[in-house]
Amino acid sequence: MTKKILAFGASNSKASVNKQLANYAANQLEGVEVVLLDLNDFEMPIYSVDREAATGIPQLAKDFKAHVQAADGLLISFAENNGAYTAAYKNIYDWVSRLEGTVWEDKQMLLLATSPGGRGGQGVLELAYKNYSYGNEQVIGTFSLPSFQKNFSPENGIADADLKAKLQGLLTKFQEAISK
Ligand SMILES: Cc1cc2nc3c(=O)[nH]c(=O)nc-3n(C[C@H](O)[C@H](O)[C@H](O)COP(=O)(O)O)c2cc1C
Repeated sequence: MTKKILAFGASNSKASVNKQLANYAANQLEGVEVVLLDLNDFEMPIYSVDREAATGIPQLAKDFKAHVQAADGLLISFAENNGAYTAAYKNIYDWVSRLEGTVWEDKQMLLLATSPGGRGGQGVLELAYKNYSYGNEQVIGTFSLPSFQKNFSPENGIADADLKAKLQGLLTKFQEAISK
């Protein structure tokens, strides 16, 4: 059966560079179906225990979880806001974490990050790796693309040969892991 990859940029920016990178990376995989999410489609009120007690968990959190459950692999590219996750992403994560089971359902994961600056979202990528690899063997690896506008074009993808090879190596590992 065709393997399904869930990909998204962990950002609610319409022109998100991380959404572009996630889409590009997912489309380098062979023979898979790619489902690319836009976090704007999962906008919910800010999580609070009081809101949850009053009105329950929003349907959109359940819909997001259903996408995770239907996938064989998850490819997420993280935008960095003030050294951490974007509020849009964190809010979805918080709501989904209130549903049964783990948020990522022990799926194979590849974690990416990019930014216009030279650090390429390394701070949030380290945070994500620390958060999601703990007790989870399924995190295949991490990749940061610095200076997005310099290193990426929609027509040709990643220009720098070393960076391109590094991502390709991880994608090969990811492809092997989801094919098992
Ligand atoms: C509120 C805010 C905080 C930011 N904080 C950081 C930061 O801590 N580190 C960083 O490298 N870039 C930071 N940036 C720049 C983002 O990396 C940049 O806007 C990037 O394009 C976000 O990714 P996206 O296009 O996928 O949304 C920040 C941007 C905003 C609007």
